[in-house]
Amino acid sequence: MTILAIETSCDETAVAILRERNRQSGSDLLASEVASQIAEHEKFGGVVPEVASRNHLAQLPHLLERATASAKITMNEIDAFAATSGPGLASSLLVGNSTAKGLAIGAGKPFLAINHLEGHLLSPFFGREGIAPNISLIVSGGHTLLVKVRGIGDYDTLGGTVDDAAGEAFDKVAKLLGLGYPGGPAIEARAKNGDPKKFDLPRSMLNSGELNFSFSGLKTAVRYLLPVILSRGDGEGSRKRREDTREIPRFARDDNVVNDLCASFQQAVIDVLREKSLRALRQTNSGTLTLSGGVSCNCALREDLRAMCEKNGIELLVAEPWLCTDNAAMIAFAALLRLQRGITSRLEEEIDPNLALA
Ligand code: KG4
Ligand code: ZN
Repeated sequence: MTILAIETSCDETAVAILRERNRQSGSDLLASEVASQIAEHEKFGGVVPEVASRNHLAQLPHLLERATASAKITMNEIDAFAATSGPGLASSLLVGNSTAKGLAIGAGKPFLAINHLEGHLLSPFFGREGIAPNISLIVSGGHTLLVKVRGIGDYDTLGGTVDDAAGEAFDKVAKLLGLGYPGGPAIEARAKNGDPKKFDLPRSMLNSGELNFSFSGLKTAVRYLLPVILSRGDGEGSRKRREDTREIPRFARDDNVVNDLCASFQQAVIDVLREKSLRALRQTNSGTLTLSGGVSCNCALREDLRAMCEKNGIELLVAEPWLCTDNAAMIAFAALLRLQRGITSRLEEEIDPNLALA
């Protein structure tokens, strides 16, 4: 069985081809093409939906061609076509969905609508023949979720963010600091040379006993700190106190205060993610934690969770870095596991920008 999957939920256009080895021994990735639109959206400081969908439309034919060429197969050899059907940007989802449906109709093969979050959630098991029950922490630009996973399609959402997602907080803080988009990698790079204890930033809802997250207070705390730091003389812009921090401060690029602020911010996010994950594991008596989504590229987060799991006798499975940010390989993998269980989608199934996991 060979599956072609398309991912166009946000600002990455992606096509992947995955082949089942046999039921007992997993699958092989034959092709995985990702065209990032970061450069297109960078100048706007975030993703512009109209720009994104136009780019998906322009990129997809090339990616389909490249994917089949590198997999050395023709469209006739594909047994099923899958696409992300939500959550995401409506006009972007439509491009990938319509393309996959068209290919499925043309070839007379099944179509599978895949939940983007399920793609992330299953990615720590990528290429294996199945999955183990686990507590899944999904941390991306759009979501921060703790999910109890019993099996394929059998999910209970334990907690989510009440405001900003973890990745969104990274992106917004990076924008405040003038570090560019996407913010996660930029903040991580700065944090490596900073002191995580320098600034005492809030860990919202940490002691509330529940499993929901809130990151907008942390972002606001950083915003309020900026004028204080600037007027203290730590930054290049210090001669003139700025009340309006929406204006990007012109910190010197090697300014230690930015590194310290990034390290302190990153540590605050990590502390919350670690403690809530541990709480979810304990509440559900689970012995396995999985980590996925764009923010799980963050080495400090991976290391921190590894240490926590080791200390508490928890098995930790982390998606490989190339599978953390948006890609179609994870969508193909979710589709394969569904297809193996006899699950396909109706062609009438619509995209859903707010599609929930459970
Ligand atoms: O999973 P993803 O590619 O897209 C969504 O489904 O949202 O995640 C993108 C998010 C962005 O917010 C980006 O800043 C964040 O992942 N990210 C990181 C890192 N690399 C990407 N956050 C923290 N540290 C990183 N190294
Ligand atoms: Zn994603």
